[in-house]
Amino acid sequence: MANSSILRLGVNIDHVATIRNARGGMHPDPVRAARMAAQAGADGITAHLREDRRHISDSDIARLAAEISLPLNLEMAATDEMLAIALNHRPHAACLVPEKREERTTEGGLDVAREHRLLEPFVRTLKSAGIRVSLFVDPERVQLYVAHALGADVVELHTGTYCEAAQSGDRNALAAELARIEGAAEEGARLGLEIHAGHGLSFETTGPIAAIDQIVELNIGHFLVGEAIFGGLDGTIRRMRMLMNEARAKGQGRPVASGGI
Ligand code: PXP
Repeated sequence: MANSSILRLGVNIDHVATIRNARGGMHPDPVRAARMAAQAGADGITAHLREDRRHISDSDIARLAAEISLPLNLEMAATDEMLAIALNHRPHAACLVPEKREERTTEGGLDVAREHRLLEPFVRTLKSAGIRVSLFVDPERVQLYVAHALGADVVELHTGTYCEAAQSGDRNALAAELARIEGAAEEGARLGLEIHAGHGLSFETTGPIAAIDQIVELNIGHFLVGEAIFGGLDGTIRRMRMLMNEARAKGQGRPVASGGI
């Protein structure tokens, strides 16, 4: 359930593996990055084992599950192969995401409303193995209702469109998308879902999302790893953590914007 005093940071270390894979070999090691993230104040580690293994590898998942003390959030497509891997390593949580081989990154949320028959056995099997189940969805009312009906513990709200609006400088689009996320967070929490958010977040865009009371976890990766080139991983994560804390402290009790979802 939502608790406005909590805002966790899940650090996604996928792109440490992207850099490693550019040359093959072992360096830089995403497990070392995960350890450093823990020291810098991360509350969890997120890794996406993609079907094409473009960044995180099977052995990264095995090592993260065995060696990292923080909760592991495994992002995965709803496939039998990924389900078997999740059941083998028993991460703290599994976040089901849509996956297309040709996309550069996850391009949108799961269409839970359309895919509910396919998703139902994955949600049920993961949950019965004691793994918390999160569904990555766009901030749309119907997705929340179906996620809830499927028995998901968590919905992670896709912030990609909001971040694109911020980058485009279109203030109206930005305000509309933020209102959609605020409305979805409120409605999801009302249903009893735990609310997470992520995708594309940066120092510039995280504040307004962190200020939303019902959101209890942000998962952030690409920006942190990219910014670490300039500010170091430790300093970058600490700065993000501080920014989240400040935004949450300021935003608490703020009325939710109307317009919603
Ligand atoms: N949450 C989900 C469900 C994702 O698929 C991703 C990208 O792997 C993230 C969060 C992190 O996004 P970014 O790397 O853009 O911060």
